[in-house]
Amino acid sequence: MSEENNNVHGTIVKVSGPLVVAKGMNGARMFDVVKVSDKKLTGEIIELAGDTASIQVYEETSGIGAGEPVYSTGIPLSVELAPGLISSIYDGIQRPLNLLKEVAGDYITRGIEVPGIDHEKKWTFKPLVSVGDEVFSGDFLGEVEETVTVLHKVMVPVGTQGKVKDIKEGDFNVTDTIAVIETEDGDKEVAMLQKWPIRDPRPVKEKLVPKEPLITGQRVIDTFFPIVKGGAGCVPGPFGAGKTVIQHQLAKWADADIVVFIGCGERGNEMTDVLMEFPELKDPRSGEPLMKRTVLIANTSNMPVAAREASIYTGITIAEYYRDMGFKVALMADSTSRWAEALREVSGRLAEMPGEEGYPAYLGSRTASFYERAGKVECLSSKGREGSLTVVGAVSPPGGDLSEPVTQNTLRVTKVFWGLDAALAYKRHFPAINWLTSYSLYLDDIKGYLAKEAGEDFPDLQSEAMKILQHEAELEEIVRLVGIDALSPKEQLVLNTAKSIREDFLHQNAFDDVDTYSSIKKQYLMMKAILTFHNKGVDVLEKGADLKDLLKLPVLEKIGRSKMTPEDKLDELEAMVAKAASEPESVTLK
Ligand SMILES: Nc1ncnc2c1ncn2[C@@H]1O[C@H](COP(=O)(O)OP(=O)(O)OP(=O)(O)O)[C@@H](O)[C@H]1O
Ligand SMILES: [Mg+2]
Repeated sequence: MSEENNNVHGTIVKVSGPLVVAKGMNGARMFDVVKVSDKKLTGEIIELAGDTASIQVYEETSGIGAGEPVYSTGIPLSVELAPGLISSIYDGIQRPLNLLKEVAGDYITRGIEVPGIDHEKKWTFKPLVSVGDEVFSGDFLGEVEETVTVLHKVMVPVGTQGKVKDIKEGDFNVTDTIAVIETEDGDKEVAMLQKWPIRDPRPVKEKLVPKEPLITGQRVIDTFFPIVKGGAGCVPGPFGAGKTVIQHQLAKWADADIVVFIGCGERGNEMTDVLMEFPELKDPRSGEPLMKRTVLIANTSNMPVAAREASIYTGITIAEYYRDMGFKVALMADSTSRWAEALREVSGRLAEMPGEEGYPAYLGSRTASFYERAGKVECLSSKGREGSLTVVGAVSPPGGDLSEPVTQNTLRVTKVFWGLDAALAYKRHFPAINWLTSYSLYLDDIKGYLAKEAGEDFPDLQSEAMKILQHEAELEEIVRLVGIDALSPKEQLVLNTAKSIREDFLHQNAFDDVDTYSSIKKQYLMMKAILTFHNKGVDVLEKGADLKDLLKLPVLEKIGRSKMTPEDKLDELEAMVAKAASEPESVTLK
């Protein structure tokens, strides 16, 4: 980055909460990082008019006043990218929380500079190129075992290409030179550490169409409203409807190589939960701590509002970096409403023209530019490599009103909508995803995958089950008006089957050791049994069988318990499907 602006320094003329206005900032640029007052609070220029800069400050500004100096660093707000990211817990501007605590104690004091990554720690670097090789941006220079589950690739920095003149092997820290590349502009020394400005998406060769589902083990998601690897989804829900539990479930169970979790907790203790709980969690696939493939960004309650605004960019830049190595990355942001509120607060202090509900007019474009960083991509590399970044954002609409601006702007750019329903949560039907209003626009894209992985007829079962649930909603209306007796036996069977889909299949307890995760195969067999029984039932009812006899069949009890079948006993579910086909035949016809 250019150093030319290093000398820019101005004077504070006004302080308003997280916003500082300074004059005399000639030569400063938008989004440059500045140090405010001699306390060296970190801030970022978010508006420039003549020599007057408006600065969003990431630290508490009390006690700072007019007349104090402001220095520009000449560098945009950036994150450090290198081995050492995984397992870290950061604040919104990539300061490691544990280091902050060590340096400053429980209450984070101001002006502390701690690197995002340990610059002293040595890593064993294994080269993947030789002297004389031609290399291009994004090509792997070497690898480092970052954790037992993550093999970190050190890439040729974006914008660099040339011939490898020197390549090292052995133990180095992240700032040591590990390669020298002979470029058109002279020799370039490359270290493992790279910096990237958080507001700029990292470049890719090409965006691809995502076709492979991100398997989450959550039945209502995988079967009815799936998300793809590289997709974008949104979970709006009122207070206490289960947004955080869903995001945690995804972090734990989704088949992603790397998880980035951004917590903008509304309640202080919610973030504490994350900080306490995550380090304890086990990765179900490796048996290792989940943190060995996770990066946490935590905005605790004593952090100023502007740091929340930055946190989603810090998180997504780290996520893109691992995507560029070819990993399947999943990012969860809980909740983006808190981010939007930070945007609103700062915009208000800038005295910008407010849009809907006081949010700035650019809420929509900012939201879009965040979710557009999701995707399945052809990574920058001369060798050909694919990576993906899936983004799921929770939204907390006040009063659960989905017409509010944050939800609306998010729905415009995400293709999956898991609508949480207060009434379902109240009835303790979890996950409280409303099956009648939610949707996934990826459903068609991944039909082929599900058919191949689980069963040829999985897509048919899916749409048949959805029809039964919709039919139930219509029939309930009739029952409300004229009572259950107005329904034919076949319609009554529809109600029973819908209840079974809801209670035996959709309802899933995140806190039960077995129920917390269902493989695609298990989901398929459970659904197959329910619908096989239904269709056989319709057959025998048409032949004159009695509904009461049908509903007494023992297989129904098996279906009711099927969610508790462990993954290594799925043959029991195969047997259940066979019984669902045969038992209805045994009902004596009238
Ligand atoms: N899948 C689930 N299985 C079992 N219980 C659940 C599930 N989802 C949610 N719950 C229950 O609902 C409670 C509230 O969920 P959660 O904290 O995720 O809501 P939230 O929408 O994040 O709330 P807030 O608006 O306060 O952030 C949980 O503590 C848990 O008891
Ligand atoms: Mg929550």
